[in-house]
Amino acid sequence: MENTKVTIIDIQRMKSQKKKITALTAYDYPFAKLLDEAGVDIILVGDSLGMTVLGYENTLSVTIEDMIYHTKAVKRGVKRALLMADMPFMSYQVSIDEALENAGRLVKEGGAEAVKLEGGIVMQDTVAALVDVGIPVMGHVGLTPQSIHKFGGYKVQGRKQAQAREIVEDAKALEDAGAFSVLLEGIPLELAKEITNTLKIPTIGIGAGAFCDGQIMVIHDIIGLSGEFKPKFVKQYVDIGEIVKNAVKEYMKDVSDGSFPREDHSYFMEKSHLRPVQKKQ
Ligand code: KIV
Repeated sequence: MENTKVTIIDIQRMKSQKKKITALTAYDYPFAKLLDEAGVDIILVGDSLGMTVLGYENTLSVTIEDMIYHTKAVKRGVKRALLMADMPFMSYQVSIDEALENAGRLVKEGGAEAVKLEGGIVMQDTVAALVDVGIPVMGHVGLTPQSIHKFGGYKVQGRKQAQAREIVEDAKALEDAGAFSVLLEGIPLELAKEITNTLKIPTIGIGAGAFCDGQIMVIHDIIGLSGEFKPKFVKQYVDIGEIVKNAVKEYMKDVSDGSFPREDHSYFMEKSHLRPVQKKQ
């Protein structure tokens, strides 16, 4: 793994070199540093932070201020990976001017090197406007979580031909608009394969099978920090949730029975400041 900074050019080159692109979310400094040191190619400050770290039911309440705050924290931990930030719900749908202003803030204030937004054909002009002013954009089609109310929940999209065709057209529209990459979420693997083979730009999948040019996961899902949420498309590599709970229980036990803190966890006064202990008569 090289240590040079990853740019969108590197990400695009990886598709032609048939090297799989790895991407993960991060929402704070310590995780950003860990992921970056491990060598992941793209770190996304996802609006999934609404659920993973802010405890909301979905991503719809996340604000541009939330995104800037977390992107700034992540930025401090990233040296190598491409740093990308999500545009939250209603920060880019109202007008192109608002999209430009908000994406600009993620870059200027947050330090993002690219932004991601949801939607295909409907977002074509917005994506083109962002790319025109120099902001790289990753598109996001298929199961777009900001549209859960339209979908009636988190449901796999594109299982039927007609909808599958629409998703292909959406992905093509994003490529035509200048997006550097497209995220494919919650679609059948055959459809993801077709889109990946059709587009020149890389596809990054989540719940979209193995044929995408790269994969992205929510970090909390793969390390066991998402509680009972264990969808089919997630592979959990470790159960940090259990490890943390056990550590907390041990700590509580140690405090309760007096075995923590010991002398070697404690500070002592300098000798010169010690008053001689008065012996009791
Ligand atoms: O917000 C997010 O975490 C996402 C996932 C699809 C990676 O967009």
